[in-house]
Amino acid sequence: MRNQISSALVFIAVVLFQCTDILAQPAAAPAPAGPTNITKILEKAGQFTTLIRLMRITQISDQINGQLNDTNNGLTIFAPADNAFSSLKSGTLNSLTDQQKVQLIQFHIIPSFISATQFQTISNPVRTQAGDSSARFPLNVTTSGNQVNVSTGVDDATVANTIYTDNQLAVYQVDKVLLPLSLFGAPAPALAPAPTSGEDKKKKSAADTPTSGDDTPSSDASGLRVHGMAVCFGAAIFATVWL
Ligand SMILES: *[C@@H]1O[C@H](CO)[C@@H](O)[C@H](O)[C@H]1NC(C)=O
Ligand SMILES: *[C@@H]1O[C@H](CO)[C@@H](O)[C@H](O)[C@H]1NC(C)=O
Ligand SMILES: *[C@@H]1O[C@H](CO)[C@@H](O)[C@H](O)[C@H]1NC(C)=O
Ligand SMILES: *[C@@H]1O[C@H](CO)[C@@H](O)[C@H](O)[C@H]1NC(C)=O
Repeated sequence: MRNQISSALVFIAVVLFQCTDILAQPAAAPAPAGPTNITKILEKAGQFTTLIRLMRITQISDQINGQLNDTNNGLTIFAPADNAFSSLKSGTLNSLTDQQKVQLIQFHIIPSFISATQFQTISNPVRTQAGDSSARFPLNVTTSGNQVNVSTGVDDATVANTIYTDNQLAVYQVDKVLLPLSLFGAPAPALAPAPTSGEDKKKKSAADTPTSGDDTPSSDASGLRVHGMAVCFGAAIFATVWL
């Protein structure tokens, strides 16, 4: 009898110890402190010093941070790493005016959040943040399996990996700088007809439709915790009854 009681006490002690341990676990990863900061995200990823510098001198990093704070649509950013910039033909960046540098960087930004799976069903052409008209700076996205390519009409880039995603902002590394046709294409034939407003509208609505959202992050950690609590509770009842 004495033996039974002491082993029951040991059992309860062990259960209590386990339970405090489980309950002490944080329920979920803590939210990042403060507003989203694109510079910080790129700094942390490393290898994006040129992009960070261009975003700073064009003040686009402030614009991005402000937009993330103000709008619900979110943003998607294609981020070329330093080696993508260094493999540009020399003088490419220097040949651009300040205004064109702004357009080049804005061309890498889509004014809505696009998850990796949403690329599969996106409608082309995709509107970017560059220019004031959807017709001037379009991108086309093509996919094959998990591979996602982005074409500008001048070059084709491949999405290499996801640097950051939080369901509001997605940052994807691309292996090339996206060169807009309207800055780097062959000089357009003079007097190209302006698109009719009807056509413009159609394109805009196609580009504005970002697909089904099914990217709710799974809550594995909190599921585990609930499970752990149930086990603790059950064990405590069992121990009480046993005594
Ligand atoms: C964003 O992060 C950079 C570098 O970490 C910092 O210099 C800058 O002040 C931050 N911006 C804001 C708005 O917090
Ligand atoms: C974010 O938005 C709120 C409300 O619109 C504003 O008060 C705040 O100053 C903004 N923060 C930043 C960092 O822009
Ligand atoms: C993406 O680009 C790569 C390299 O240019 C090419 O081999 C591949 O076929 C392209 N895939 C798609 C889906 O366009
Ligand atoms: C994008 O695709 C459309 C057809 O869907 C095509 O007409 C257009 O030329 C393409 N643009 C680029 C930049 O590749």
